[in-house]
Amino acid sequence: MVINAETRTSTSNSSYDIPIMTESSIPHLRRTKNSSQLILNGKPFLMLAGELHNSSLSSANFMSTVWQNMKDANINTLLGSVTWEMIEPVEGQFDFSELDKVILGAREFDMHLVLLWFGSFKNALSTYVPRWVKRDVKRFPRVHVSEAGAVIRTEELLSPFCEAAWTADAKAFTALMTHLKEFDSKHSTVLMVQVENETGVLGDSRDRSNIANKLFKEPVPAHLITQLQSVQTEDLHPCFSTRHPHFSSLIPGKSTWKESFPVGPDADEAFMAYHISRYVNHVATAGKAAYPIPLYTNVWLNFDDPTVLDLQGLPPIVGGGSSAGAYPSGGPVPHTFDIWKVNTPSLDFLAPDLYFHDYEEVCKQYTHAGQPLFIPEQRRDERGARRVWLAYGTYAAIGASPFGIDSLPAKDSPITKHYGLLNSMSSFILEKQATNPEDVMGFFFDEKEDTAVEPVWQRTFGTFTVTVERSFVFGKPGPGAGMVIHQGDGNFLLIGWGFQVVFSSPDPKATFTGILYSVEKEIVDDGKGGKMLKTGRVLNGDETRSGEFMIMPNEEPDYGGFPIAVTIPCGTMIAEVEAYSLFEDEEDF
Ligand code: DGJ
Repeated sequence: MVINAETRTSTSNSSYDIPIMTESSIPHLRRTKNSSQLILNGKPFLMLAGELHNSSLSSANFMSTVWQNMKDANINTLLGSVTWEMIEPVEGQFDFSELDKVILGAREFDMHLVLLWFGSFKNALSTYVPRWVKRDVKRFPRVHVSEAGAVIRTEELLSPFCEAAWTADAKAFTALMTHLKEFDSKHSTVLMVQVENETGVLGDSRDRSNIANKLFKEPVPAHLITQLQSVQTEDLHPCFSTRHPHFSSLIPGKSTWKESFPVGPDADEAFMAYHISRYVNHVATAGKAAYPIPLYTNVWLNFDDPTVLDLQGLPPIVGGGSSAGAYPSGGPVPHTFDIWKVNTPSLDFLAPDLYFHDYEEVCKQYTHAGQPLFIPEQRRDERGARRVWLAYGTYAAIGASPFGIDSLPAKDSPITKHYGLLNSMSSFILEKQATNPEDVMGFFFDEKEDTAVEPVWQRTFGTFTVTVERSFVFGKPGPGAGMVIHQGDGNFLLIGWGFQVVFSSPDPKATFTGILYSVEKEIVDDGKGGKMLKTGRVLNGDETRSGEFMIMPNEEPDYGGFPIAVTIPCGTMIAEVEAYSLFEDEEDF
């Protein structure tokens, strides 16, 4: 049941009336078959998101120059930071005036926000904590790392072992969430909050301070071993089980970190992951109690093998780092995912910042255990924009969010076109994500010269196998992106450009499989506040290569000097096609 704002009740056990909301009246996650969707005002919502530069949201005045451009880029949700130093400049004195102005600005433009809580941790440092925290090293001790030559260096990073720090952070975060509840729960401008940002330790695989050294020598907390051992092996993250095959034989409460995670710096990393996740959960739990909208944290990914990165000539280090400390040690990377899951029940999911990794591999890793996929940071260029089709399509993402979006004019941004098409089809995509996510396949084709092996995307839907290839042209083949949605009985919606679809039958008895009928579709208002598909051109002949495959052309197909214009440029970028198979008897031959 959805309860609207007017039916809320209130409590008087506080100095001011705090409305009690049923969970369903505020943004929340709803379970689907194998994931979850974000529910806004009772309906699933697809976040076509972008992340602002770190400082943008700190000024409502600056944001007034940003909103329209973001609307023009077809973005419906912006991720932006709210920092501890900004809301609690003096201990115990909270100031939300600038944030409120920002939220009002967002509402004016019908824009949603995901707030990034830059509290104790931002990119493995504590640069966003208030001045009174930074200076008070007695109350808020720091992490110390060991440099080459065994020199111990003080980091600008709060100790994750410091209860005073997580208590103070949790207090500030609670104030923020309480304020959001009062200021925003009737509007749901703010959809979710990210708790901290890219946590971990850089420069060493673990903290070398006295308290860390002492705790590191103690047995691994028994609950961690017991809880991890109670997870079915197939439900543990494959990256964890592969690294720690012996884990099931450990005796809870007996082995130290080094004994439990004996390979390389794994013990250091697991130790940091345990304590940082515990810290983040303290903060998240306090905030969630105040206003229970979805909470998550993001991760600076590691890599094991630099050759699998999508670098295009950049040095591998931009891909994240291969050893704990070169990337933040203790963050929720795939091989510490299970430690984080055990320790952070107040977070709804863990989210990957995905710039240079194999996009599909990371989508798989972060949909493990039925997690909804949300990509808070990714590339904002064409390469990044194309990949969101895979996230929204195959992996039923609730959102993907190119980073540094506000400094890109909408007219020059690749996001504008991709999000425009996704936005027009969002009700169809959301319906499938909720009911039959296996009916959707997203894909992309990069510029041909960037692609060593020509990608082919294939899946069997019911009685048809769909093969998606780069769209054929006589000249230079272009890039492409899109998704296929199976509507049942061989009927498919094709969305996107730069690809072609071939149908075949997995049944060896089929003697012919081809296209029965195909039409261009246009999205129009249905007159009842929704969208519907209206039929346009009937596509046949050259447009289906005389029945061989269905072409979804590029904007400007390159004829390569071929004198006959056989390929049309893309139109609405939406088509419906029906496939069919024949099963002939011998006498039919
Ligand atoms: C990752 C961080 O999470 C973002 O806040 C931003 O700093 C980007 N890196 C780009 O530097």
